[in-house]
Amino acid sequence: MNYKKFIKEKIKEIKKVIGKEKALSVLSGGVDSSTVTVLAWRAIGDQLKTVFINNGLMRDKEPENVVKAFKKLGIKVEVVGAQNKFFRSLKGITDPEEKREAITKTFYGDVFKEIIKKKKIKFLFQGTILTDIEETVAGIKRQHNVLAQIGIDPQKEFGYQIIEPLIELRKDGVRKVAKLLGLPKSTYQRMPFPGPALAARVIGEAKPERIAIIRKATNIVEKELKNTGAFQYFPVLMEDKATGLRNNKREFGNIIIIRCVESKDARVATPTKIPWKILEKITKRLTTEIPGVNRVCYDLTPKPPATIEYV
Ligand code: XMP
Repeated sequence: MNYKKFIKEKIKEIKKVIGKEKALSVLSGGVDSSTVTVLAWRAIGDQLKTVFINNGLMRDKEPENVVKAFKKLGIKVEVVGAQNKFFRSLKGITDPEEKREAITKTFYGDVFKEIIKKKKIKFLFQGTILTDIEETVAGIKRQHNVLAQIGIDPQKEFGYQIIEPLIELRKDGVRKVAKLLGLPKSTYQRMPFPGPALAARVIGEAKPERIAIIRKATNIVEKELKNTGAFQYFPVLMEDKATGLRNNKREFGNIIIIRCVESKDARVATPTKIPWKILEKITKRLTTEIPGVNRVCYDLTPKPPATIEYV
């Protein structure tokens, strides 16, 4: 694909569709939403309103980092606090698909809807990519941002139109577009992060306490595995617990799985052969720096039969 041509054409298309109206772009800090935001901003400038929703499920310092990165690009980002809304909608839910649905509903039917109404906006930009659609339609996983393809009409249901300029691309294509658009390397090379954020990284209920554990663990794992250059690496908090021993006392503690995979476009993946020493270091850090974590495992399963994420 000629990505320069792709960018030119998309900018032209966006200008035509939006006309003189206002549009909203919601950043998550990931490659897809960052790319869409810059693309839309190039096309319609100040007619674009960019927000970052703090849903309480984001990684450590994510809102601050996103605002800073976009300030450098000349794009102002407003942070909207919505932690309570999300935790309320996730309360008591343990089923993965129900969790995704709760997050979708809170984003589209509550938080976005409110901003759009308040600011008299007609369009929402979204960084949906081809893989999101394929997996949802195939019934593998309901990606939180796939609507039309599963029979949801956003205009009818939520009162706004959704524009998805990256829908023909996969992750590798999005990275190329992002680089051409002048996004920093730290963004276009950033590993994928799921829309349901850290809620996808805990099995079972996404309670604030459990999200806090996985946030700390994510910080540690991302730092320690950065140099592997792997496609994606992250920890997952299990719902089960395991018996352990701390300060000569029995402890029934949390289990964390480390997942690190090589992949080109997330359709297939193989586990990274991480040096034992690094795994030992991560294990030590997770079990000493996070209270109640007493067991760490490394996942050796390729995709398929596993998926990359656990939820
Ligand atoms: P899976 O787990 O299906 O993930 O192998 C494929 C890639 O998509 C990323 N990703 C998501 N995965 N829900 C997901 O399960 C989402 O909403 C989502 N958004 C992105 C995932 O991290 C992996 O790179």
